[in-house]
Order: sequence, then C-alpha cells, then structure tokens
Amino acid sequence: MKILGVESSCDETGLAVYDTEAGLLAHAIHSQVAMHADYGGVVPELASRDHIRRVIPLTRGVMREAGVALGELDAIAYTQGPGLAGALLVGTSFANALAAALGIPSIGVHHLEGHLLSPLLATPRPEFPFIALLVSGGHTQLMRVDGVGRYELLGETLDDAAGEAFDKTAQLLGLGYPGGPALSKLADTGLAYRFKLPRPMLNSGDLDFSFSGLKTAVLTLNRKEGDAAKADIAAAFQVAVVDVLAAKCVAALKKTGLHRLVVAGGVGANRALRQRLDAEAEQRRFEVFYPPLELCTDNGAMIAFAGALRLRAGQTAADGRFGVRPRWALGELSAPA
Ligand code: KG4
Ligand code: ZN
Repeated sequence: MKILGVESSCDETGLAVYDTEAGLLAHAIHSQVAMHADYGGVVPELASRDHIRRVIPLTRGVMREAGVALGELDAIAYTQGPGLAGALLVGTSFANALAAALGIPSIGVHHLEGHLLSPLLATPRPEFPFIALLVSGGHTQLMRVDGVGRYELLGETLDDAAGEAFDKTAQLLGLGYPGGPALSKLADTGLAYRFKLPRPMLNSGDLDFSFSGLKTAVLTLNRKEGDAAKADIAAAFQVAVVDVLAAKCVAALKKTGLHRLVVAGGVGANRALRQRLDAEAEQRRFEVFYPPLELCTDNGAMIAFAGALRLRAGQTAADGRFGVRPRWALGELSAPA
C-alpha cells in the first residue's frame, strides 16, 4: 500500500510517501521558522497562508522523488488535530480533495500518535509494549503503549512542555525563536555543573513534570552572572531538564516492569538527552529507541506511517466527511477495530 502523508498542524508543511512494503520512499518539509521569527512565535494566519502556498509544490516534489504517480496512491493520511485550526484545515482540505479526485480513502491522523509511532520508522524497530516519552513544543507525556491506539497516560507536565521550556529559556538568553536547538548547541559548549538549577518534581513520587519554574531560575541567574556566563547557564538548564526527563523515564519503566523506552517529539533530537538515556539504558539494562533524527520534529512521514498502520489494521476511512480537531486528547483514541 502506498500512502501520501500530509502534515500542517503548526509551522511546518510536511509531505511524504510511505510504502508498507518498501518503507519511506520520500519526504519533504518546509519550515516557516524564518517567517515567524520576527514575531517571536507562530502567527496562525500567516501559518495557514504559507501552508496553502507550499502544499501542492511539496506534494509534486515527493511524488517525483518517490517515483510514484498520483494514480498509484492507495490512500492519503493527514493530520486532523490537534493544532492550529486554520493550519489543520489546509492539509485536511487538500488531502480530502485529492483523495476524492483519485477515488481513494483518506484518513485523519492524530499528530501525537504520529510522533509516538515515529520510532517504528527506524531500524531496529521496537516491539510493543513500550514506554514512550513524548517531548515536543506542546507536550511532555509519558505513556504506556501496548499497540496502535492502545495508549495509557502515565504522567505529563503540569505547566510548560519541555520544548516550550527550551524555547522560552532561549528567548530569555537572547537566542531567538524557536530557541531549542540554539540553546542546546550553546549548552554543549558550557559547563553543566558550574551553576546548580532546580530539578522540579524530581522527587514528587509520580510521573508528572513541571518546567515553568526553571525559566525564572534562569532569569535570576542570568541577571546575576551576566551574559559572559550564558553558555554555562544554558548547560545548567539543559542538564536540569535532562536529569528530570531521564529519572522519570527510569521510574516509568520500573513501575510498569517494561524494558523498552521510545523517545519521540522535537526534544528527542537533543544530543544531551540521547546521551543520558543511552547511558541509563546500558547501566539499567533496558533498550531505548529514537526516530531518525530528521523525523523528530514535525513531518509528513510519521503521519503517512500512522495512517498506514491504522488502515492496515482494518480502520475504515471517513467517507467524504471531514473536519479538523484543534483540541484532541490522545486518550480519546482507540485501537483500530
Ligand atoms: O515535535 P515538534 O517539532 O513540534 C511540536 O509538535 O511541538 O517539537 C518542536 C520543539 C520546539 O520546542 C523545539 O525548540 C524543540 O522541539 N527542539 C529541541 C531540539 N530540537 C528541537 N529542544 C532541545 N534540543 C534540541 N536539539
Ligand atoms: Zn509535533
């Protein structure tokens, strides 16, 4: 089965062609980061307009690269939610219009399910069940995953998401928007233990997180130490986040008795986090899996893949009716019947 994936939930237009036999044939992403940078955040109306401009040329590009003609597609998967309503509508309308024109099924995919299943696009591929750490700009969750659509929330952030904490802290340090990758790069040049920042909820006894207090601690430290200490402050921030994320992953594995950990979402690209989890895995004898690096952040490949898994498991596509779901909890999903 050949399936086109369309992602447009936020500030990236992602397209991909996935083949259930041959794997990922092509994928392309257009990031709107430069366009939103002047505003310090995503401007929803500008995001929607840009998705409109990009979606058709990107589709042509991935089809050409994959060597697949439109008539050879078996289905189209698109991000139905959660995300920005206007942005979601672009991908959703496009996917459903094209599917109707081609006479093939379309399937709406939950964006976080896409992230959650994206490590299955890598080799080696984790077997179910596993613990998933979902760390993106909008979410920080620990889940138990027993199969497609079989997700149990074990813990989540009470305030900022991990990626959001990276972005806001980067902004405080004058590193621009979205600062996660820039902050992480700077942190890698600093001394992680010159300053000690709090590890929020490290010993809370549950699997929840809280990151909003860290910003304030960074702000205070930066005021006191000045910009000369910026790299060391960034490093102290990064190690504090990594400490908490790693400890809660270990606790989730212990609590469930599972031995496989899967990391997904934009912060999963963070080098320090990967190094720490690899070290913990070796020491504590569990396995850890990541999506391919370029599929950590938003992309069409994870949407095509999740759609393919659901269709193959027998889920039927909606017949001509579609709508977006800007707010949509992962817990509302069920296994394909
Ligand atoms: O999954 P994603 O692309 O979008 C959402 O669905 O939110 O994640 C984007 C988030 C941003 O907050 C970004 O700053 C963060 O992931 N991020 C990173 C790194 N690369 C991306 N955070 C820390 N270190 C990185 N290397
Ligand atoms: Zn995402």
